[in-house]
Amino acid sequence: MQFEVWAKGLVTLSVDCIVLGVFEDGELAEEAHSIDSASNGYLKRLLARGDFPGRTGETLLLTELPGIEASRVLLTGLGTRKSFGRRSWRRSLGAAITAISKTRIGSLAIAIERPPVKELDDYYFGRAIAEIVGSTLYRVNDLKTTKKPKTVPLQKVLAGPVRKAGVEDAERGLEHGQAVAAAASLQRDLGNLPGNVCTPIYLADQARALAKQHTSLRVQVLDEAAIKKEKMGCLLAVSQGSEEPPRFIVLEHRGGKADSAPVVLVGKGVTFDTGGISLKDPPGMDEMKFDMSGAAAVMGCLSLAARLRLPMRVIGLIASVENMPSGRAVKPGDIATSAAGLTVEILNTDAEGRLILCDALHYSRRFNPAAVVDIATLTGACVVALGHHHSGAMGNDEDLVHELVEAGVRADDRAWHMPLTEEYTEQLKSNFADCANVGGREGGAITAAAFLGKFTKGLKWAHLDVAGTAYQGGAQKGSTGRPTPLLADFLIRRAGL
Ligand code: BES
Ligand code: MN
Ligand code: ZN
Repeated sequence: MQFEVWAKGLVTLSVDCIVLGVFEDGELAEEAHSIDSASNGYLKRLLARGDFPGRTGETLLLTELPGIEASRVLLTGLGTRKSFGRRSWRRSLGAAITAISKTRIGSLAIAIERPPVKELDDYYFGRAIAEIVGSTLYRVNDLKTTKKPKTVPLQKVLAGPVRKAGVEDAERGLEHGQAVAAAASLQRDLGNLPGNVCTPIYLADQARALAKQHTSLRVQVLDEAAIKKEKMGCLLAVSQGSEEPPRFIVLEHRGGKADSAPVVLVGKGVTFDTGGISLKDPPGMDEMKFDMSGAAAVMGCLSLAARLRLPMRVIGLIASVENMPSGRAVKPGDIATSAAGLTVEILNTDAEGRLILCDALHYSRRFNPAAVVDIATLTGACVVALGHHHSGAMGNDEDLVHELVEAGVRADDRAWHMPLTEEYTEQLKSNFADCANVGGREGGAITAAAFLGKFTKGLKWAHLDVAGTAYQGGAQKGSTGRPTPLLADFLIRRAGL
């Protein structure tokens, strides 16, 4: 897909289609007026007849308007002007792209009025357009035997309106937006794969393939023996019940100075979470194939760092296991020794994410990182607290957590700062080991983070719980690609691009 900016002369653009916005009261959005006058009031007459109600999500394709170069015009509803914001703009644009994907339209000019939101400057405008087009055209890599065509005829998108002074920023936004969309698609592809395909070994192979594509990436994969050498006893305790061997993946983007302090991203890569001996209830258990979404987001972000040649070091650490019940599985009450040396009483084998993460977080110390961010579908409690709209953000460094929350606002991939204070850590006391892996039902998202906090002392660390945001159920069931846009924004800002 080719993305460019258009700055003026909508009427004379020779494209297959122009997308225009219409508000609910029949008011044409700003850019539509030039098309209306060129076509002698065609659009106003159509709206006066009540032929297009302008509700968000609705579209109408018109062909052969007189007086303009483009062969088609697609109207997309913007809802009421009063409620017109980033969300309705995003939906209207998505609806337009969906409609266009069902046609033979090959080139397109987007000319929807921009909502008056301060986050949507020229750069983020370009970036959002490329991201929305990319995510709308994403197709699930399903294993259906009747194949639908995977590609759409759409090849070229002109984004606007942009003032002349903003063209450069918007172009940079389009370039970055394409990289974000590609990274999110990579996360989604991995997340959507079934557990019998996407195993720890598969993830390691994908990391190797990624490193082959980009010269800035270097990969190292620790197998079970190497993991044992690292004394990752908590990770191994989770993995011991499965026939699938674990993998620990180190994927490094070598940008910036070789001796500079890197950003380390740590991903939870549980390729299937049955709960282990603390077995989960059957309803919805299939969704636990998405329990490697954090790991997939880390892979996406490393591919983005490489593609945009970010002038900084970024290291991805992926702890990947399968959590299964079996005769060899870890049992409630068993005690494991973490790589950090702390002993952990495993009271619930379904709280496995924190067990693999604590060993991965400890591993990050050897890089003297500038910041460590872990990403995990960690707790159902986070879904109860925040629903599917915000990821949970916690950590031991207020500035770092704020940086992530702000990145989420700009990227429109939001996270909410939850409190992580000492009281929560006290819920993890054990009579038999240094700590327990669960702290009761209350504040479950935070006690999970508090557990990780025991292993990140002295690091600048933040944790994103994406259990509610990384995938969705229902008719559109599948990976959402979140929080890759948030993380991408965080990295791009840190790199100063
Ligand atoms: N992978 C789950 C968390 C999860 C739940 C993700 C729902 C997405 C949707 C995690 O490993 C888990 O099972 N957590 C337990 C922790 C509990 C045993 C303290 C949970 O949330 O129930
Ligand atoms: Mn679990
Ligand atoms: Zn899990």
